[in-house]
Amino acid sequence: MKAQLKVVEYNFEASEFEWEIAPGKMIGAWGFNKQIPGPELRADIGDTLVVRVTNNLTEPTMIHWHGLRIPSAMDGTGVVQKPIEPGETFEYRFVVPDAGTFWYHSHHNETAQMERGMYGALIVEDKSELVTDSERIFMIDDMKLDSDNRFTKPGWFIPRVIERHDGRQGDTLLLNGKENTVISINGGQTERWRFINSSSARYFLLHMEGREFKIIGTDGGLLEHPRLANEVLITPGERMDIVAGPFNEGEIFAIESLPYNRVTFLKPKREKFATVKVGESKPSIAFIPETLREIETLAQQYAKVTRNIKLSVGPSMKDGMSFLVNNDVHVNDKPVRVGELQIWEINNASLMDHPFHLHGFFFQVIEEDGKAPSFKAWKDTYNLRPRTKIKIAWMPDNRPGLWMYHCHIIEHHAAGMMANFEVIDDSKPSEENARNHSATCHT
Ligand code: C2O
Ligand code: CU
Repeated sequence: MKAQLKVVEYNFEASEFEWEIAPGKMIGAWGFNKQIPGPELRADIGDTLVVRVTNNLTEPTMIHWHGLRIPSAMDGTGVVQKPIEPGETFEYRFVVPDAGTFWYHSHHNETAQMERGMYGALIVEDKSELVTDSERIFMIDDMKLDSDNRFTKPGWFIPRVIERHDGRQGDTLLLNGKENTVISINGGQTERWRFINSSSARYFLLHMEGREFKIIGTDGGLLEHPRLANEVLITPGERMDIVAGPFNEGEIFAIESLPYNRVTFLKPKREKFATVKVGESKPSIAFIPETLREIETLAQQYAKVTRNIKLSVGPSMKDGMSFLVNNDVHVNDKPVRVGELQIWEINNASLMDHPFHLHGFFFQVIEEDGKAPSFKAWKDTYNLRPRTKIKIAWMPDNRPGLWMYHCHIIEHHAAGMMANFEVIDDSKPSEENARNHSATCHT
């Protein structure tokens, strides 16, 4: 029997509001439906999602559906739509084709809008044999607030250069929009925790005071097999699905981030995001199969490279430094053709980390610093350590139009580390592909 496909509809209002991050502690926030994160969207594969966004901010906005393989016109960037002006409503409508932990966020003036809270989770349920006792979403964020708990951008040259270099990272640590959250879980239970890093620049090295967990999925859904770990790096934009537990009644531990050195002015620290308290034990019905699903192999390690991309950092008179793609800022890269397998070699020539994000398509990393990875995964965001090279494989399926890739450290993206490119359908007359190479870049 085929499941009924649904149309799932939401109304979003983008606005400015006061948000309580801890008892009595209000911050000045921007977001969707006066909450951080915005509404949690849930659908099944094949459902149509309709989100009507009314902009009640004082500036334009747009929403990008991070990780979703939807038509270009729905991608929410400045090359595929006009920004939603204050007072206007825009309807996003698309079919969700894949299961996974996805998210949405503002794609306009992101260094302010995302930082202030304009993001939320979008879950597409998987159909696997996996059963857990319950499921939670954890959206990781941090904010840099002034003494009145407001967002302000640094005015002076040096702090501005630091924020541009490091990305904006603050001391207000948020899990689902709250500080110092206490998570109550029952003993004996096994839960699925979906982590989404929605911060501007923070590298979240998940740790639960040494407790083991199983990584079962990432950006583009489930892995083939669960992977046992006691820490895992989740960079801005990335998702990580883990299975946590069972824990013993009475246990208390932190969900924390271990120090990760991504070469910044800021010193890496060990920081606590939430506390887990384990209550009374309950029977479990969890079942975690050894094979979660199969992932086809897109290409082998030595497949011929079809494009080279270099990420680097160069001097800039105005702001101290520019963030570059192929030695330029805000680039228009060459088009690709529908159905032609892409093998891109991405070279991080800089001395700091960058999480590379491709809009609208999943890729597989087929080589990292000369080695094939030890497991397969569908990714849309992947961290490049300083002076490393990766090779990714991806297939432009039949969704022609304008797309982009960029560093998901939002300040690097804004400082130029991004490119637009077109996916061209050769079977169509060229006007239909049009709009292309003259398109201007938007950050
Ligand atoms: Cu979450 Cu342009 O990205
Ligand atoms: Cu970067």
